[in-house]
Parts: sequence; C-alpha cells; structure tokens
Amino acid sequence: DEYAVGLDLGGTKILAGLVHKSGQMINSTVLPTSSQDGERAVIDRVLAAIEGVLGTANADRQKVRGVGVASAGVIDSKAAEVIFAGNLGWEHVPIGKLIEDKFALPAQLINDANAAAVAEWMWGAGRGAQNMIYVTVSTGVGAGIISDGQLVQGKDGSAGEFGHISIDWNGPLCSCGNRGCLELYASGTALEHLVKHQLEQEQREWTGGSLAAGAFPTAKEIGEAALAGDRYSVEIIERAGYCLGIGTTSLIHLFNPEVVVFGGGVMNASDILLREVKRSVRERSIQSMARQVRIERQQVGIQAGAIGAAGLLFAAKQSAGKLP
Ligand code: BGC
Ligand code: NA
Ligand code: ZN
Repeated sequence: DEYAVGLDLGGTKILAGLVHKSGQMINSTVLPTSSQDGERAVIDRVLAAIEGVLGTANADRQKVRGVGVASAGVIDSKAAEVIFAGNLGWEHVPIGKLIEDKFALPAQLINDANAAAVAEWMWGAGRGAQNMIYVTVSTGVGAGIISDGQLVQGKDGSAGEFGHISIDWNGPLCSCGNRGCLELYASGTALEHLVKHQLEQEQREWTGGSLAAGAFPTAKEIGEAALAGDRYSVEIIERAGYCLGIGTTSLIHLFNPEVVVFGGGVMNASDILLREVKRSVRERSIQSMARQVRIERQQVGIQAGAIGAAGLLFAAKQSAGKLP
C-alpha cells in the first residue's frame, strides 16, 4: 500500500487528505483561507493541515510517498514555488521547500486545474481517453489539458490558463493584463459581479430567494435560484455557459479532444450551464471535429485537485519522474 498527501490550496479554503494510490481519499481536513489572512498565516495553515493528515496516517507514515500541492495561479513547478496567486495574496512563496524542510518528504506543486485534470483522467470522467480536457468553473476559470496521453504542463507548469484567453478583444481589463478574458464572463466571481451590477443599475430586486439586507447573491445562490427556475438567474447562467462554449470551441480546434470534462464550484447548475456550452460548441465549431466530442460533468468531485496533486507522486514513480 502506498499513500501521498494531497492538498488543494484555494482562495477560500485549504482541502487536504491522505490519498491511496487507487485515487481514494482516506480522510480530509478543510481549513478556511482568505487573501486578508496574510502570507505567513496561510503558510502556517498549510503546514498544520499536512501535519494533521500525517497524524492520522501515524502507523503508515513509511508508506507516505510525499506531498502534492495544487494551487491556483502562476507557479514554477520545478522550484515548487507559487509565483503569483492573487486569490491568496501570495508572491514568490517556495511552498515546496517549506514542506520538505518541515516534514522531510518530497513535495510537488501543480496548478489546481491541471491537478484536477489528472484526477479526472486517472480516476474519473476522462478514464481511458488519450485526449481529454478538464475545465474548472470556480472563483476563476482554468483548464488542464491531456494531449496524446500526456499532461501538458508547459515550461513552468502553467500551461492551461484557459480563463485568460480573450473572447472579446475590446472587452474589460482583466487582472492578468489581457482584455475580455473568458473568466470575466463565466467564473463564479463574474456571475456575482454581473448580478450585483445589474441589480444596482436597474434598481431591481433580486427574485431568486431571500438575502440579508443589503447583500447580493453568491455564485452558489445564483445557481440554486436558476435550478429553482428563477428566470433571471437561468439567463445569467446560460450566458456564462454560452461564453464557456466559445472558449471550449477553441480548445476543440486546438487539441482535438475526445472528451471535455467540466467541474468546479459553479457547477451546481451544471445542467443549464452544460446545455449552453453544447449549444455554443455546436453552433461555432468545425462540425467534423465537434461532432465526436463528449461534453461531460466531473466525477471525482470537489476533492479532485487534492487527489490529482497526490496522484502526480504515484505517476512520477511509475514513469521515472515523467509526468503522466
Ligand atoms: C487562475 C488559474 C486557475 C483557475 C481556477 C484562474 O484565475 O489563473 O491558475 O487554474 O483560476 O482556479
Ligand atoms: Na491550468
Ligand atoms: Zn485574464
């Protein structure tokens, strides 16, 4: 039996657990994070989460191969350093080294969407595919690309920044420097901003359920309202889905995948979202390529980032350091 610690470092929470080499997460801890916490506090919480997971592995400590960390944002996978993660307020944090120094275990760093792609590919909706793309719709939008049976990492491990492809060359400025980025139209953050802006501008009441005084709905609440049939929320999600389809069309044209898997926190209204993704792909892509692509929901679930990051450590062993 072999295990690895998998940890997903997100803008709102740290999820860590002990992962068996079959892809099962044995136990998990969740700790809150926020960019307001400051760098050191979040680093300490990461180390505490790993400590907690290793504590439960007590007897099996020898069987733990290492720690895999999945993080949003720009990373340097070779140095295991987070270069820039806006949602954490992190710049140049050598998280891999900090973990190795404290626990004397090898640590690997991977982009969160790339990690979830590995999990869905090894154990989820992409099993058996040689060409599959995983798209996450959460606080931001990201992707992990498996092409010809390999995870496409790029030079530093940052390949797959799908949320920052432009779908409007004249669109609003994104924090990344580009204009009209996909994630400005289709992420959880975008949905929340859009609804708040429209309600304010049009001096309209939110019809999707009760809210605290002066509050605006979260992405989750917008999704729930859409599922309950709130017309306005349905339209907002449909528009996000249509924009995602524009991006997905580009992915299909570039990578010729067999399957595109969608996951992430904004997927509670996934039926509505995916219906529009499919419609937009049907309308806009090269028909002979798009006809054969399956568009599916994730199977591994919200632990996919942590599980995939741990999965890297097993894969690295199987293929002598080469990523899957
Ligand atoms: C980040 C990506 C990340 C995605 C999903 C984007 O804003 O740039 O690195 O994969 O959000 O978390
Ligand atoms: Na990515
Ligand atoms: Zn951008």
